[in-house]
Amino acid sequence: MKGMGFMSGNNNQVVLLTGASSGIGKATAEWLMERGFRVYGTSRKAAGIMDGKPYKTSASGGFIEMIPLDVNSESSAENAVRTVLEREGSIDVLISNAGMGIAGSIEDTSIREAEKQFDVNFFGTLRMIRHVLPAMRKQGRGRIIVISSVAGLISIPYQSMYSASKYALEALVEALRHEVAPFGIKACLVEPGDTRTGFTSSRVIAEAAGEASPYYSRFRKSLDRMEQDEQNGVSPEKVARVIHGMIKRRNPPIRRAVGLGYKAILFLKRLLPSWLVEKLVGMLYA
Ligand SMILES: NC(=O)c1ccc[n+]([C@@H]2O[C@H](COP(=O)([O-])OP(=O)(O)OC[C@H]3O[C@@H](n4cnc5c(N)ncnc54)[C@H](OP(=O)(O)O)[C@@H]3O)[C@@H](O)[C@H]2O)c1
Repeated sequence: MKGMGFMSGNNNQVVLLTGASSGIGKATAEWLMERGFRVYGTSRKAAGIMDGKPYKTSASGGFIEMIPLDVNSESSAENAVRTVLEREGSIDVLISNAGMGIAGSIEDTSIREAEKQFDVNFFGTLRMIRHVLPAMRKQGRGRIIVISSVAGLISIPYQSMYSASKYALEALVEALRHEVAPFGIKACLVEPGDTRTGFTSSRVIAEAAGEASPYYSRFRKSLDRMEQDEQNGVSPEKVARVIHGMIKRRNPPIRRAVGLGYKAILFLKRLLPSWLVEKLVGMLYA
């Protein structure tokens, strides 16, 4: 099985998927396993590959193995990539999905909190990309799918650090696509909107964003709305289908929003004057 890669179409491709313990990552791992993919999912809580016994298998020959990874750690990222390469000889697809959100006004968010946000969402992805690229270049093929967000194209008040970390990912992938295309590597972004996952309960509130903050009531109103929208959002399986679509496409587009509503919003953002976009965002979240 070692190094089968793209030899058998979609089946048996080796996928390294970060943040596979919950939400979008978990749904994607299961979706791909059911379709024959050899999925190495990661979590900070995973103990490691257990004597070569997969965590889950499917009738189509796919499996999910869980391996430990903290995307904040350079050595952990390096180890996760090495583990998969030692097992499989190649990595066909990296899905950089691990992420979290910090909420609070800009004034209430400390530099340390902002750095933490970027360390997971932006530098976590950057670390994984840098560690898979040498192997993908040698293979002469590979696919890198970065999970961004609609907030990576429309900045959300009181979620500015999260939005900024996703905007940064958009910039990263726009450049990456050019740099890696000559080596047969294709990079793209998937932009979910509100999705029902553990993201809402894992959100970190900036320490200074409590009742004493002058922003408190407006912040709480905005956050309540955001949390409600997320919990009424689409299922993570819907995002998994879009991610699978980006693997199947011979030439994936640079970005794909999830769902017609968000596609329409992002299309309108390009057409409408900035003042109107600002007004609409303000009506929803300010
Ligand atoms: N839910 C939404 O509405 C929404 C909308 C747009 C974009 N997104 C994006 O979708 C991605 C997945 O989020 P989700 O909604 O599925 O949230 P989730 O249910 O909270 O899952 C987050 C995953 O990321 C992992 N993770 C968090 N911090 C990590 C770290 N330091 N190192 C390694 N893994 C880490 C978690 O694994 P462990 O805790 O087990 O390590 C978990 O598997 C994120 O990038 C998020 O920004 C979500």
